[in-house]
Amino acid sequence: MSSKALILVGGGTRGTRFRPLSLDIPKVLFPVAGRPILSHALSALTTVPTIKEVLLVGFYDDAIFKDFLADAAKEFPQFTIKYLREYTALGTAGGLYHFRDVILKGNPDKFFVLHADVCCSFPLKEMLHMAEEKAAKAVILGIRVPTQVASNFGCIVADPATKKVVHYVEKPETHISNLINGGVYLFDKSIFTTIREARDARHEAAVASPIGEEGGEILRLEQDILTRLSQDDGFFVYETRDFWRQIKTAGSAVPANALYLQKLFQLDPDAPNLAKASATILPPVYIDPTAIVSPTAKLGPNVSIGPHAKIGAGARIKESIVLDDTEVRPGACVLYSILARGVKVGNWARVEGTPTPPADHLSTVVKNGARVHTVTILAQDVVVGDEVRCQNCVVLPHKEIKTDVENEVIM
Ligand code: GDD
Repeated sequence: MSSKALILVGGGTRGTRFRPLSLDIPKVLFPVAGRPILSHALSALTTVPTIKEVLLVGFYDDAIFKDFLADAAKEFPQFTIKYLREYTALGTAGGLYHFRDVILKGNPDKFFVLHADVCCSFPLKEMLHMAEEKAAKAVILGIRVPTQVASNFGCIVADPATKKVVHYVEKPETHISNLINGGVYLFDKSIFTTIREARDARHEAAVASPIGEEGGEILRLEQDILTRLSQDDGFFVYETRDFWRQIKTAGSAVPANALYLQKLFQLDPDAPNLAKASATILPPVYIDPTAIVSPTAKLGPNVSIGPHAKIGAGARIKESIVLDDTEVRPGACVLYSILARGVKVGNWARVEGTPTPPADHLSTVVKNGARVHTVTILAQDVVVGDEVRCQNCVVLPHKEIKTDVENEVIM
């Protein structure tokens, strides 16, 4: 049996909710738990030995992935990894259909499609097993979420006994199910017949009623294909009870960082670059070997410290991502925050967000009657002055914060 994998990476005109961090680096290459988001998906694909080829499909400029592809070729020698660029955003199924000859080359029995922006344990072997057991045409990863957030996702209604998907609605207006689309699929090649049928139906509808119909090759896997598949017999859901989180907004990188670090620590507490537990290290904490951390700084849990960062004496960092070349000066405190490249946090300054349980899938909270970001984000080269407090703020690149700020977007 042979299989392949596709990762939908999107493109520069999307990912606006990941701003201001995506101004500096494309979302899928943003480091979470010390590695680009995409590398976590590639690692998961290594658990399926029949996968020999991984295709990244998106509409970013080719140059964006040049260095990543060179590094990935060394880290994942078992794969041939290619970037396939859509000439424009073709939608989550449009790219699949456009590159069908490349995907079908070598005649794979099945192929995985992964959204690049989900953080989870990727139970790929379990999905393959289900596909074989049920002789399925398609298997989708399902996850249960609280009722109040379910309609932000694609909702699945499945037969509880057989796990056959009987109904699928993308982001419904009323509640239909807590079981949502986790952004990971396993298809066989009959998916291309379903896509062709959906495309033909769209064209016919556009001819009958030209106003308001999207033309061209844009096809949405969710609205155009999954809804159609749910009327078929061969569509099943594999429900995971393990962790899952969408990495949509910039703030959602903080819970994703925590989930990946916890999983890594659980699998191998002695993994390279995970700091050993001590009076000043509350695991899991990832520290890049080139970072300089004072022995009196207290870090963790759920902290990643990037290359060449400098963490001063007595600093306190918790539930945060600290990127390359940042400086956290002595006595400063960084909680529930992201410090992008080159940020400087002054002596005894305080940068903080608000904790929310990851299972709530929220990236905003209501404080004093206003909806604010849970995570404080300091974009590239922001400077926070000595003893200044910056709470629940998003600060755009190169700003200097000289006085206390709270619940603001500083442009
Ligand atoms: N190649 C390509 N081309 N990729 C795309 C395109 C496109 O035109 N549009 C989006 N993507 C990629 C994104 O980069 C992301 O990895 C994935 O497809 C889904 O992105 P969105 O289309 O923005 O959908 P969403 O995140 O709001 O919701 C989707 O994901 C949820 C799970 O995270 C839906 O599939 C939901 O049903 C699902 O619950």
